[in-house]
Amino acid sequence: MHLLVNTGGGDAPGLNAVIRGVVLSAIRRGWHVSGIRRGYNGLLEEWPHGVIKLGREHVRGIAHVGGTILGTVNKGNPFEYPVKENGKVVLKDVSDLVLARMREVNADGLIAIGGDGSLRIAQKFIDKGMKVIGVPKTIDNDLSATQVTFGFDSAVSVATDAIDRLHSTAESHQRVMVVEVMGRYAGWIALNAGVSGGANVVLIPEIEFDIEKVCASIKRRYETGRCFAIVVAAEGAKPKGGQMAIKGTELGREVRLGGIAEQLAAQIGERTGFETRSLVLGHLQRGGGPTTFDRLLALRFGCAAARLVEQGRWGHMVAWQPPSMVAVPIKEAISKMKDVPLDHDTVLAARDLGVCLGD
Ligand code: F6P
Repeated sequence: MHLLVNTGGGDAPGLNAVIRGVVLSAIRRGWHVSGIRRGYNGLLEEWPHGVIKLGREHVRGIAHVGGTILGTVNKGNPFEYPVKENGKVVLKDVSDLVLARMREVNADGLIAIGGDGSLRIAQKFIDKGMKVIGVPKTIDNDLSATQVTFGFDSAVSVATDAIDRLHSTAESHQRVMVVEVMGRYAGWIALNAGVSGGANVVLIPEIEFDIEKVCASIKRRYETGRCFAIVVAAEGAKPKGGQMAIKGTELGREVRLGGIAEQLAAQIGERTGFETRSLVLGHLQRGGGPTTFDRLLALRFGCAAARLVEQGRWGHMVAWQPPSMVAVPIKEAISKMKDVPLDHDTVLAARDLGVCLGD
């Protein structure tokens, strides 16, 4: 058995732990593993050097290390691959080349570690006959088939730590601090970090916010003598009837979000008269090593993926559905996004704690 493994989309703490889990489980079974560098690029522009053997020595001491030893890309979709033609970048379907090169290296199947976008690409390859096992990754935790994805706990820890630190500076200066965290369509990071970190306002994509209500709640707080406030906004949070804040667009990839904290800070400052500052945590939330929870989950995902290979359950994704590690068809896993249900216990707790959710 010769397995290929790749990591696609935005990185997340725990990717290396999954790779270690896959490689050691495979070696125990007498199989060989190779890694494709940078998503599918190792089979395309980096060919033939982009496919590297992964032995025990390559995965030694990497479980706690952030990033991915294979590299990743988030504009490397082989079905819409950006190529230069007559000086212009156009999108081409190069998926057949990927399949041909997999045959050339005698690969029996692929372990695709990725989020929603990467798993959608994996499904397209499955439809063309490729044997794939998926491993769910995203700091946004927006995949419905698994209770949690690795990377999420690490991101929430970073964001909570940042919010903790902001309290003292906000209080010293009597300021409103608006923090932007990741979360395109799902507000899990904002909600969990905001509630844990004692934020006064938490804005998530699932609840359109009313700026007047946000300002009124901050004013009420100042009136009680607590003259500082922390606002946590998911990058995908949007005002009532309004749009998400967009940073830019690029051919062959999702729009880049960003700017909601800056917008909010300007509006809050103007409406309340309170000094307000904004900051964006951005990629800090994806950087660094995984928490213990993510490290263990990622190792377990990697090992479980190898067991699915052994059982011949191609086309499935490993998923953590406590108390069991299960296999879910990738097709099913990508059919529904996991956003924050408005009756989720953490939402109820936020309201009970007096956190303004913008509605
Ligand atoms: O999907 C994870 C995520 O962290 C999103 O929350 C964010 O919008 C995106 O990745 C940013 O990715 P990048 O800056 O790497 O393009």
